Amino acid sequence: MSLDPNLPPSEIENLLAEDRTFPPDPDFTAQANATVDLYAQAEADPEAFWAALARERIDWAEDFHTTLEWDLPFARWFIGGKLNIAYNCVDRHVERGLGDKVAYHWIGEPGDTRRITFADLQREVSRAANALIELGITTGDRVAIYMPMIPELPIAMLACARIGAPHTVVFGGFSAEALSDRINDAEAKLVITADGGWRRGKPAALKPAVDDALAMTTSVTHTLVVRRVGDAVDGGTAMVEGRDVWWHDIVDRQDDRHDPVPLDSEHMLYLLYTSGTTAKPKGIMHTTAGYLLGTSFTHEQIFDIKPDDVYWCAADVGWVTGHSYIVYGPLANATTSILYEGTPDTPDWSRWWQIIEDYKVSILYCAPTAIRAHMKQGPQYAQAHDLSTLRVLGSVGEPINPEAWLWYHEHIGGGRAPIVDTWWQTETGMIMITPLPGVTTTKPGSATFPFPGVGADVVDGEGNPVPLGSGGYLVLTRPWPAMLRGIYGDPERYRQTYWSRFPGMYFAGDGARRDADGYLWLLGRVDDVMNVSGHRISTIEVESALVDHKAVAEAAVVGKTDPITGQAIFAFVIPKVGVEANDALAAELRNHVAKAIGPIAKPKFLMFTPDLPKTRSGKIMRRLLRDIGEGRQLGDTTTLADGGVVEAIRASSGSAEE
Ligand code: PRX
Repeated sequence: MSLDPNLPPSEIENLLAEDRTFPPDPDFTAQANATVDLYAQAEADPEAFWAALARERIDWAEDFHTTLEWDLPFARWFIGGKLNIAYNCVDRHVERGLGDKVAYHWIGEPGDTRRITFADLQREVSRAANALIELGITTGDRVAIYMPMIPELPIAMLACARIGAPHTVVFGGFSAEALSDRINDAEAKLVITADGGWRRGKPAALKPAVDDALAMTTSVTHTLVVRRVGDAVDGGTAMVEGRDVWWHDIVDRQDDRHDPVPLDSEHMLYLLYTSGTTAKPKGIMHTTAGYLLGTSFTHEQIFDIKPDDVYWCAADVGWVTGHSYIVYGPLANATTSILYEGTPDTPDWSRWWQIIEDYKVSILYCAPTAIRAHMKQGPQYAQAHDLSTLRVLGSVGEPINPEAWLWYHEHIGGGRAPIVDTWWQTETGMIMITPLPGVTTTKPGSATFPFPGVGADVVDGEGNPVPLGSGGYLVLTRPWPAMLRGIYGDPERYRQTYWSRFPGMYFAGDGARRDADGYLWLLGRVDDVMNVSGHRISTIEVESALVDHKAVAEAAVVGKTDPITGQAIFAFVIPKVGVEANDALAAELRNHVAKAIGPIAKPKFLMFTPDLPKTRSGKIMRRLLRDIGEGRQLGDTTTLADGGVVEAIRASSGSAEE
């Protein structure tokens, strides 16, 4: 793995210039779920801390006998325990009299709505579980889910969890090729999908991508298709006889009772694929009990969840944020959530604020990229709505710049609501570094401190903790309940990727700085992973998509700072001899990447160049390309094999897509 310790200096200066602090409001503290003693309590004996919480918060079919078995880097939590996570998220609330409480207020982009109570959810999930069984799915079979943000998405996940069939949700914006790769790696037997979804005022078909994906796979026996857009999609939806089944044909006629299957604590709950430093996405494995505990406890403490809150995590369920903080965490806490199908700008930029006013949303959790997109439009949309119900605001997915933090605080939180900037990853399953509202004095742009019980540190290249006021690499120093259990089918890659850089410590791939007060400031990735709108995209994945095109000889990809999306993809492309490098080819290459990976991976900037800067051993020096992309002064060029190459690139022409 290549590491680049040269964190962008301008970013560090920006962060350090921000020295305002926001102490908690005493009124908030007086009613807060979190208390300052949690830290000491957890630190005294982390295992005992988690064990007590596991017994208190989870309904077990059988108690566990051992809290943790830590065979570095392989962890097993709550050994001997049996439980069902769908039961913990749904049935137990109904049994305790919360059947009429709303689990999801769903809002379709065109304006249609559904109100789903916990009792509704219990019936729907049971029917779906019975349908899965009819389709031949049993405990242990993998199910791929490729859906828009409709209620059947969490229902499908919970139905899988109920019978112990690990799901792998693939974000609906990914291409057929990306979907087929994931189906193949997981050897999924079933794909649950929809005919399409609504996006920016138009129906967007989804099922054709499944058909294309299935032409490249062999493990799938059936697809289960929700009818969402119906005849609005051109030509209707083609169904393959004997393979494709409409959801309404099979699920609706099932018995609405199903006994949840008690499963081992370490039973695999799901796989979620994420980009790393190679072309092949990794199947991150999460299991049942530790994940349930980690997500539900952090959700309750960090968002200060109370029984009458209306909580909205505006992520897509296709990412880990949606898994942990739209589905499992909130449902385990019997929380009422908003589930919104569409984009924030449809029909105009008031959409989110209208939803908050209409549903009296009290907690909002979103990505800095969304905040910056709203900022760009101006505060007038938010100001025209009553946002006074908001009492906690969250941020996730990328570093939040102090300017966006302050805008969020002032224009959305009315200067009142505490902001929790939460750092975590697909791999961590749960939030790891965050303020606790009512407890922590915040600083705009800092994720502050590790959550109680979590061990985190910032180390130098040799793995030694850096002193206060210095930067280095973020590491996690002890196992935590919701941690990944490995990479599906590749234990060695798991060890190599996360546990070999600093022996005994989990290397997150992020740079971080600890200020003079010990606050943590996340500084972005230090490996070959970009973060575009809070989504992880590997430079190498985009490069392999580019070189896969017949006109391309070589390609190098870097992230370039972007005012809205955090980073934007910048591709340097060497065309093959005899190929004319023009705007039409640039457009074709961009579309080629979108088709191979998905529109989120489409390069915003593409530059044709005669050569790439390489070291004498032939390694592309992305650091120099980043400098060129940013228009910065070049860093050290002494290791370049050919000193003239940078000038040649600078003289090349680029094209940007708006
Ligand atoms: O670089 C960090 C960034 O997002 C990466 C994890 O991406 P993913 O697995 O897709 O999960 C995103 C949602 C949890 C991290 O390695 N990141 C996430 N949250 C923050 C962040 N960077 C800075 N501040 C954050 N709050």
